Amino acid sequence: MSKRNPRVLVFDSGVGGFSVAACIHRTLPGAELLYVADNAGFPYGDQPEQVVIARCCSLIEACLQEKPCDVIVIACNTASTVVLPHLRARTEIPVVGVVPAIKPASQRTVNRKIGVLATPATVKRPYLDKLIRDFASDCEVVRLGDPNLVRWAEELVSGREPNQHQVNEAMRPLQQIGVDTVVLGCTHYPLLLPWLRESMPDVASWVDSGEAIARRVEYLLKHADRMPLLDGPGELSGAAVGTACFSGPAPAGIERFLEGMGMPVADVKSHWPGLK
Ligand code: DGL
Repeated sequence: MSKRNPRVLVFDSGVGGFSVAACIHRTLPGAELLYVADNAGFPYGDQPEQVVIARCCSLIEACLQEKPCDVIVIACNTASTVVLPHLRARTEIPVVGVVPAIKPASQRTVNRKIGVLATPATVKRPYLDKLIRDFASDCEVVRLGDPNLVRWAEELVSGREPNQHQVNEAMRPLQQIGVDTVVLGCTHYPLLLPWLRESMPDVASWVDSGEAIARRVEYLLKHADRMPLLDGPGELSGAAVGTACFSGPAPAGIERFLEGMGMPVADVKSHWPGLK
C-alpha cells in the first residue's frame, strides 16, 4: 500500500459540490480532497448536454494528469445525469455520481407528495423521469427548476444572503401542493437550507445525497485497500481541502466561506488548468 493518504477529486460547476465534500470530510477526515469547479462554464443548468460532457471530461482528465486520485466524485446532479458513462469509459478510477434522491424521499414521505428542486436542465432529463417511475410512481411529484437558486448559493461565498421574500416566491409551487418531503436535486441547494426551511416550515424532510455519496466513497476506498492512514488531515496541516481549483477566477471570499463550513482550504487556484 502507498504511504500517501487517499486523494478524492470532487467536481462541480461551482461551489455546490462543497456540500458533498463536507460530508466526505466528516466521514473520512484523513482523505485529501481535490476540489475542481468549472466556474468558467457555470451554470451547467443552462448548458447543452454535449457542452457539459466535453468540459467535465477534459477538466477532470487534465487534473488527473497533475494529481493522481483514488476516487472521482461528480458532485453535480446536472453533470451526473449525462456524463457518467462517458467519464467511466475514459478512466479506470472509480467514478461516483450524484443523482436526485428520489428513492429515499419516497421512503420518507407520508402524504405521498414530493417536491424535487433541481436545475432547469435536471428537471427535464430522462434520468429523472426514470428515477420517478422506478421509485415514486405512487407519489405526486412536483419538479421545480428555478435558475435563481444556484446563483443565490454562489453569492453566499461573497457574504451576500438570499432575499427571503424571493425564496418564498420561488417555492410557491411546492407550497401550493403541500409536499411533506423535498429532494435537493442540486448540490448547491443544501447551502440554501436555512432560507428554504424558512419558506416551507411544514416540510418534514429535506433530502440530499451527500451522506450516501460519502458512504460510497468510503466503501470504494476500503475495497481498494486505500483507507486514510490518519484520522486527521495529516500532511495538509489542518486543511480539509488540499487544493480548490477553479477554471475561471476563484470567487472572492472562498477561503473564509470554506472556513465557515468547517472546510479550511490549503491552496486555491484560478484559471486552472487553462480552460476558459
Ligand atoms: N451543483 C450543480 C448541480 O448539482 C449545479 C448546476 C449548475 O451549474 O447549474 O446540479
